[in-house]
Amino acid sequence: MEPVRTLIDLQDASPGPLLPDELRILYGGDLRFPAFSGERPYVVGNFVSTLDGVISFKVPGQSGGGTISGSDEADRFIMGLLRASVDAVVVGAGTVHEVTPTHLWIAESIYPETKDLYTGYRRTALRKAGYPLLVIVSGSGGLDLGRAIFHTPGTRVLIVTTESGKHRLASIGAKTLDSTEVAALDDTGGLIDPSTILALLRDEFGVRIVLHEGGATLFGCFMAHGLVDEVFLTLAPQIAGRTAERPRPGMVAAVEFRPETAPWFHLVSAKQRGGHLYLRYRVKSGT
Ligand SMILES: NC(=O)c1ccc[n+]([C@@H]2O[C@H](COP(=O)([O-])OP(=O)(O)OC[C@H]3O[C@@H](n4cnc5c(N)ncnc54)[C@H](OP(=O)(O)O)[C@@H]3O)[C@@H](O)[C@H]2O)c1
Repeated sequence: MEPVRTLIDLQDASPGPLLPDELRILYGGDLRFPAFSGERPYVVGNFVSTLDGVISFKVPGQSGGGTISGSDEADRFIMGLLRASVDAVVVGAGTVHEVTPTHLWIAESIYPETKDLYTGYRRTALRKAGYPLLVIVSGSGGLDLGRAIFHTPGTRVLIVTTESGKHRLASIGAKTLDSTEVAALDDTGGLIDPSTILALLRDEFGVRIVLHEGGATLFGCFMAHGLVDEVFLTLAPQIAGRTAERPRPGMVAAVEFRPETAPWFHLVSAKQRGGHLYLRYRVKSGT
């Protein structure tokens, strides 16, 4: 892949690079996250959107991020790099339903070309073992357990659900899956407070940094609770449009802020390759 060009990089000064040379060249610079605070895990979102803010065409078979990015190589490379950097990847059931059944939510699933570089970086620079834990949030427990992620040796899955969701999953055989755990958390009308999800991940799974891969409803829930620290946003140079009859989501759905409560972000870095922009924002404290 032709390296990404860094236009702006305002990351905090650090003693030395963390990314190995080859990844640092492809990424056009280093990638660092703040040290674990000891409180909740640090939460990093990752989305690709059109110029008009659409993250899904909501067209059957063409609703995923790949259609939005045009399967952009650097977008997939950065997504892989983020997956390689974290302890857990969190995703909502709605997104799981729309992704191809063979997808694994690990770095090389999205960008196999640099599989060995990701593995070396994760093991040597970050000292993280294995793949990140995949956390699927589904209040209803209505998941297809035939998906590859539930049957691939080496991958680890945690389904976070409600009591009724746990019963539903048990009835379709979740207990027979070797590498999948189901955790039932308290809910209000089927909705789980995302701070309890993060507390579970920290306390029971040792998670310090989370990659939140959406979709809009689950990400909106985290945003509404003030539980998002950063967003990596790829801006794809196309327009999707939307109508009132066929709404198309932006990166946050099912929640709206008022002007006085809307979160604001600092720009951390801006990168470019062709017509795509790769933006990294950190939330302003106090918002
Ligand atoms: N362009 C991009 O970067 C990007 C990224 C991600 C996703 N997407 C697209 O976005 C679309 C999916 O977004 P979405 O908003 O429809 O779905 P979503 O956020 O992925 O998932 C929504 C589902 O997650 C569960 N959920 C969410 N919040 C919950 C809570 N607080 N407690 C319990 N369960 C909770 C519920 O599952 P149950 O119904 O099972 O209870 C809910 O129906 C897809 O088209 C996907 O391809 C695009």
